[in-house]
Amino acid sequence: MRITKSLNLVCFLSIFGPVHSVSSTTDILSSTLVSSPPSPATSSKPATTPTNRPTFPPVGSVPRDYSATGLEKIWDLVGGPVSPPPFTTTRVPCTPIPVPTPPSLYPEWFSPRPANLLPNLKFPEGFVFGVATAAFQVEGAAKADGKGPSIWDWNSRQPGGVPDGSTGDVVHLQYYLYKEDVERVAALGVNAHSFSISWARIFPFGTADSPLNQAGLDHYSDVIDYHLQAGVEPIVTLFHWDTPLALHAYYGGFMAPESVDDFVHYAKTVFKAYNGRVKTWFTFNEPRGFCGFFGSSQFTFGAILPPPLNVSSAPFHCIYNILRAHAGAVKDLLRTKTPAFREMGIEGEISFKSENFIGPPWRANSTEDAEASERRTAFQIGIFADPVFITGDWRKILTDTLSPEYLPRLTEEEKKDILGAPFPLSSFFRPTLQYQPSTKRLRLRRFLRY
Ligand SMILES: *[C@@H]1O[C@H](CO)[C@@H](O)[C@H](O)[C@H]1NC(C)=O
Ligand SMILES: *[C@@H]1O[C@H](CO)[C@@H](O)[C@H](O)[C@H]1NC(C)=O
Repeated sequence: MRITKSLNLVCFLSIFGPVHSVSSTTDILSSTLVSSPPSPATSSKPATTPTNRPTFPPVGSVPRDYSATGLEKIWDLVGGPVSPPPFTTTRVPCTPIPVPTPPSLYPEWFSPRPANLLPNLKFPEGFVFGVATAAFQVEGAAKADGKGPSIWDWNSRQPGGVPDGSTGDVVHLQYYLYKEDVERVAALGVNAHSFSISWARIFPFGTADSPLNQAGLDHYSDVIDYHLQAGVEPIVTLFHWDTPLALHAYYGGFMAPESVDDFVHYAKTVFKAYNGRVKTWFTFNEPRGFCGFFGSSQFTFGAILPPPLNVSSAPFHCIYNILRAHAGAVKDLLRTKTPAFREMGIEGEISFKSENFIGPPWRANSTEDAEASERRTAFQIGIFADPVFITGDWRKILTDTLSPEYLPRLTEEEKKDILGAPFPLSSFFRPTLQYQPSTKRLRLRRFLRY
């Protein structure tokens, strides 16, 4: 054992430090963020009080100054001071790494135990068991080593932005503790860790013509190497909702078409840097949920829309731009004729992580319920999956419902770009559950295969 007295202290701290970064899945936190109402303290204040409103300059009013001073000015927009990390060195794990206690299961009435739900389930050969994190939720070190702010650094400082008012300044500090986290994942016997890269660490200003932050690129290179060394597959997501804040100041982030080329440039930079070491890539995490943030006047993001968009139209413009950004990162677009993932010869598979909340019809014998379920699926999943996997275009029910001011129509060229943009990725399975009022239980209805 090479544990020394001083390392023991480090060990002790690490047990109580970042343990949640491997046990909390992004799905749990993302649904919390989406569904949590503002805290009573914030929502009880009248919405018209000037201090109770999010503050952000009009879109387009901030000049593109890519100097260190310019970056400070973007940081000034977040609306408050940024807490520094308690230490700024990457900790070397001591051995043996303690295996974390699993989180408790949900109560039976809410969700049956996996063993009761799927007693005969056999995982297919090659099934990957993994844990997932998202950069903003676990990294901390929000302003370290040249990183720019993301929209979540801003949102978490705005009234009602995050229910309990917490920021991502420090959190689990995975930025410095990733070695311990990876060792812990390995100790759990898990095969893979899906993590996201913070775009604003690589490009603090986000844009294609702005300077690259080498420290950010080097950081994830070390993170990837450490995974490989520990026998944990690094699965990389390029975007888990943390748009560089500068892009919102310049043009309105993913609400604006300019975001497409900037994202594609960022994606290609990352592909090139880590090619051969990462074999499973995702462009966007749950883009439907992300775009939904801009569709609610209750959430702060609804307050920073580029004109003429409003909370009704913004989510659909966001979806439109993200679809094109995804396609641009994966395929050589007819429009630009510049090589992307496929033509660059990047190894591995790529897709986006679609959320897949299916609403099964409440009554099996009701046509109305069946239609409602279809409609929901078309708007929630089909809005991304139909164009990418099936037709290249919006499903008819979308264009019948939404005028082009809401949902921009896809040109023939865009349809060709978008269709078939993902590699066929391993199937995702999700059980569909139905609540049975008579027994107060959830019942497994069927498996959906993607
Ligand atoms: C649907 O089935 C339920 C129970 O099986 C029955 O009570 C109800 O009348 C049926 N509704 C329709 C519209 O057929
Ligand atoms: C929001 O934008 C849409 C599309 O341009 C427009 O039809 C609608 O009237 C706008 N809503 C409001 C409340 O301004």
